[in-house]
Amino acid sequence: MKKALMLAAALATASSALAAGKVEIFSWWSGDEGPALEALIKLYQQKYPNVKVDNATVSGGAGTNAKAVLKTRMLGGTPPDSFQAHAGQELIGTWVVANRMEDLTPLFKSEGWTKAFPQDLIKLISAKGGIWSVPVNVHRSNVMWYNPAKLKTWGVSVPKTWPEFLTTCAKLKAKGVSAPLVVGENWTQQHLWENVMIGTLGAQGWENLWSGKTKFTDPKVVAAFTTFGKVMDCTNKDASGLSWQQASDRIAAGTSAFNIMGDWAAGYYTTTKKLAPGKDFGWANTPGTAKVFVMLADSFGLPKGAKDRTEAMNWLKVLGSKQGQDTFNPLKGSIAARIDSDLSKYNTYSKSAAADWKSSKIVGSMAHGAVAPESFTSAFGAIIDQFVAGKDARGAAAAAQQLAVRAGVSK
Ligand code: GAL
Repeated sequence: MKKALMLAAALATASSALAAGKVEIFSWWSGDEGPALEALIKLYQQKYPNVKVDNATVSGGAGTNAKAVLKTRMLGGTPPDSFQAHAGQELIGTWVVANRMEDLTPLFKSEGWTKAFPQDLIKLISAKGGIWSVPVNVHRSNVMWYNPAKLKTWGVSVPKTWPEFLTTCAKLKAKGVSAPLVVGENWTQQHLWENVMIGTLGAQGWENLWSGKTKFTDPKVVAAFTTFGKVMDCTNKDASGLSWQQASDRIAAGTSAFNIMGDWAAGYYTTTKKLAPGKDFGWANTPGTAKVFVMLADSFGLPKGAKDRTEAMNWLKVLGSKQGQDTFNPLKGSIAARIDSDLSKYNTYSKSAAADWKSSKIVGSMAHGAVAPESFTSAFGAIIDQFVAGKDARGAAAAAQQLAVRAGVSK
């Protein structure tokens, strides 16, 4: 029996080494966001040395540009072999409902993944009786980043609620800090908006928005929009031209006190900038979200008609494996999506995220595709722009409600 197993293992290694071909992997992880993906591709190439990997990236945070290119390719009948999409409604509400993806249930079964990933995460990537993508990580959206030394100098601490944040903002402005909170281009403002909403409405209140129970025109939502407007008054004037990395740089440089960003910022600080967690940068949950973990997961799927299907399946196997996840995530700032990850490979920030992932109430991110379909998120950008310009909370809430109905989120 043992011999037979060894022979099977030897044959599997030999066949993977012999497999030749190519595979195109499509994502938005380029440049200084690239190291984690590059390490994962390196691992794939160790296992499949004869396969040429086309690391096809379209840069731009949160995939704003990549998703547009992907759409053209999917509709034009030239899909990449495997592409990045957020676990949840982003993929399901777009490409699964359009019947463009392969059901990966057989892969989940053969790899033992139905038990390797948390049940709630499997639920998020399931629809229409199938499982539609392989999550490579879990990112946290509700993190407030700061520079510990600068907070000390300014004599302020991390605000625990949004009203407290506004008081801290006034204090910092009085000390000459013109932009206590740094924010970047449109999608980072949507990211901030969702954190103000969750911190104001609470986790349940947030979930009620996406189940259609609460309307966006609800007075509590309108009031949260008003708070978001006041929060935006604490930010930099050059936001629209700033990438999330440039916004993160302002915390490291100490020009702004706080930044609200997902924990890819931790990956950027530690992997790209070589900064020390806890010393060069600090973190806390965003105001009003103690014991809440706002999650999103990057995942990869297999589109129907992929030219290099076998190689793409092998790519999915590598990224869903324990070794794959523990290669990628310590560099990315995220934690593994799998439940058997080796935490000794992770830094203190990620260890704290892993502990919170287990002990918090989990809700999904809108800005990163977990709870809302792409048709909502992409159009919501215009509502944010208009709101930031005119601060009409009632008008923005009404527009959001109309959009929610159109996108099938609300009735
Ligand atoms: C998110 C994505 C992260 C990170 C970030 C910035 O949407 O899930 O992995 O890439 O965008 O680009």
